[in-house]
Amino acid sequence: MVQSIPRWATTLSDDIAMGSIHQNATRSSRLGTESPGTAPMEPSASVASLFSGIGGIELGLHEAGFDPRGFQLACEIDVGARAILARQFSLRGEVHTDIRGLRDLANADLVTAGFPCQDLSQAGLTEGIDGDKSGLVSEVFRLLAASKRRGKAPRWVLFENVPFMLRLQSGRAMERVVQGFEELGYRWWAYRVLDAIRFGLPQRRRRVFFLASRSPDDDPRSVLFDPTSASGGAPRAATAEDGDGTAFGFYWTEGNRGLGWAPEALPTLKGGSGLGIPSPPAIWLRDTDEFVTPSIELAERVQGFPAGWTDVKCDAARKNARWSYVGNAVPVAVAEWVGTRLLSPVRVTEEGAPFDRNARRSWPNAAFGLEGEAFAAPDQGEGPVAGGSRKLLSEMAILAPDRRHRHVQPLSLRAASGVLFRLERARDEGRLRPRADFMKALARYVATHPDRPHAAARVGGRRGARN
Ligand SMILES: C[S@@+](CC[C@H](N)C(=O)[O-])C[C@H]1O[C@@H](n2cnc3c(N)ncnc32)[C@H](O)[C@@H]1O
Repeated sequence: MVQSIPRWATTLSDDIAMGSIHQNATRSSRLGTESPGTAPMEPSASVASLFSGIGGIELGLHEAGFDPRGFQLACEIDVGARAILARQFSLRGEVHTDIRGLRDLANADLVTAGFPCQDLSQAGLTEGIDGDKSGLVSEVFRLLAASKRRGKAPRWVLFENVPFMLRLQSGRAMERVVQGFEELGYRWWAYRVLDAIRFGLPQRRRRVFFLASRSPDDDPRSVLFDPTSASGGAPRAATAEDGDGTAFGFYWTEGNRGLGWAPEALPTLKGGSGLGIPSPPAIWLRDTDEFVTPSIELAERVQGFPAGWTDVKCDAARKNARWSYVGNAVPVAVAEWVGTRLLSPVRVTEEGAPFDRNARRSWPNAAFGLEGEAFAAPDQGEGPVAGGSRKLLSEMAILAPDRRHRHVQPLSLRAASGVLFRLERARDEGRLRPRADFMKALARYVATHPDRPHAAARVGGRRGARN
């Protein structure tokens, strides 16, 4: 399907300030000892991408060294996302639309599926993961079964989803996913919660990466796990470690029970509502006392894409769809790390602690399964031991003072006074303890906001809530 080297191959190099991240991640994650049991994938391996979105997994795989010509099949129901895939990956044919109409997996060696998380919401699962509405995962199993019948079962299957999946229905959703794999012969599996912030991206974004194989010679632990125990993640900048820094991300739409507070990072970018209403976070730039919201280009960078990745004209796309595409995407650097490990698996000695899959409780943050048995892997942290250094939000060149104005907008008076009001109330009622210097700066910002006549008299207070 891929005609030529895709456009991103040339656009990445010019990228602002974060171009070194991918190289660091690739170099460092190749340091491990190659496992004799797990043969590396060939860079020319063919990849079938389900629920492709804007191709975060696929761009990460290409960054890791997978040949773009191996990108055999993409499937995405959203018309605007399909236009982005077609543009950025130079696809020859159309991207398949609804997975329910897809008939085969094009003899893929690797299948990727970051399936929609709303189908795993508590409400969606009242019928169970096999229910009509929650059936998109079973569409993947249907396609794997069809491949198996033709003797072409993919060697690896990679799932990505929200960590809530581990807690859903007291672990029963995970049990169904694992059972679905095992029934198809994928009896070796491992998963691990990984946080984008540990992969050189200034965003807190925890996601489950789940990898399954059909052979004891393809040990998913050798891809997803670190070879040494007590892995905690990449070295982090000391300033952000202790909650300090000069740029702090938070959600101006929150402030009652939490704030999504993220020192030197953005909180998890969200896909927004089904109506495409964007919900970007805000940033407090402490040294200049500014409160801003990021541009979509900044959000793309924070997800590891080149700026402008989703800037593809599509008349049929939803308004503001770019925010939901970026908010739903898989961070490129995390997918790149997984891809690098598929190309260079390591020897892993993680033995794990057996756990009862049917115990009706949440599943651990990292675990693996071997022929029906399940083991927790408590030493596997949310980032690779051999990762690059952490990238601070304030270090992004896109946020440098001379470029900043193009990539951020001042937080509106309505938004700032609303969050200030909610935070003051939550603090007074003992629900939250926001930083005092942040609260003072926010109150000052509201009081002196140019859209606020006679501003100084009304710092915070009920009037702010109405805005
Ligand atoms: C979590 S997102 C995947 C994000 C993607 N991995 C990326 O990096 O951008 C899930 C995607 O599944 C798509 N989707 C939902 N229902 C679908 C269906 N029936 N067939 C194909 N794609 C579907 C959504 O439009 C959405 O883009």
